[in-house]
Amino acid sequence: MIFRSGPKLSKTAQEAAAHLHAGGALDHGVRHAAIIMDGNGRWASKRGVPRFIGHKQGVEAVRATVRAARDLGLEALTLYAFSSENWKRPEDEVADLMGLLRHFIRADVDEFIANDVRLKIIGNYKALAPDLVEMIDDVVNRTAHNSGTTLAIALNYGAQDELLRAVQTLARSAATGEIDPAEIQITHIDAALDTADMPPLDLLIRTSGEQRLSNFLLWQAAYSELYFTDILWPDFDGAALKAALEAFSSRERRFGGR
Ligand code: FPP
Repeated sequence: MIFRSGPKLSKTAQEAAAHLHAGGALDHGVRHAAIIMDGNGRWASKRGVPRFIGHKQGVEAVRATVRAARDLGLEALTLYAFSSENWKRPEDEVADLMGLLRHFIRADVDEFIANDVRLKIIGNYKALAPDLVEMIDDVVNRTAHNSGTTLAIALNYGAQDELLRAVQTLARSAATGEIDPAEIQITHIDAALDTADMPPLDLLIRTSGEQRLSNFLLWQAAYSELYFTDILWPDFDGAALKAALEAFSSRERRFGGR
């Protein structure tokens, strides 16, 4: 084991972070982790149950992972819940996923508030059903001042779409003379992305044995460590997250240096 969790996990991300800064047991070094949650369908077919059950169990894995992220002192956890390409799935599966999302946001808001979790959405979520957008905006506003872990859910998200929207924002600023195109820096692009107020992405995890980025956080992952596990998403939990953080602790990050 590379970092020790100690006999009892900290109560809040703030306490965990303080512990971390004091050189404590949670010194895994990850501020921001993101997960491509894959394998719900295979989990269901292995059990001979409908795909919906796999997605439903996937929500339980989300809950367990968010709690663990907070206890392990992560500043941010970004989860790929629905990609801009997922609309190609059968209509009833899309409806099931939206239903689960609605239920999750409604049912878990009190836990977010009690645990100092800030909800954030990345992606073009305004294109979702109006009632869902309203519900999301309400929970985002109600948790906006929480300073523990930020839970970013990627909804109707595609990294190329995010970059396209950022380019449009910068082009508009250039067209109005607000910014000189020759002066555009990497930091301007960072600031125009949906993840603008989040820490750099340290660790990108994908479950289910697939090894692709699938249009997720392409810009942000420039220097992230990649971690692939065969665990199917519904079986992912705090122990699995901890294993990923331990693997991260043993990596040597050089950021292009030597
Ligand atoms: C991939 O499994 C998973 C998804 C496309 C959706 C992830 C959604 C959830 C975990 C539930 C809703 C999320 C929240 C945040 C409430 P797959 O269906 O592609 O699995 P397969 O590759 O085995 O078929």
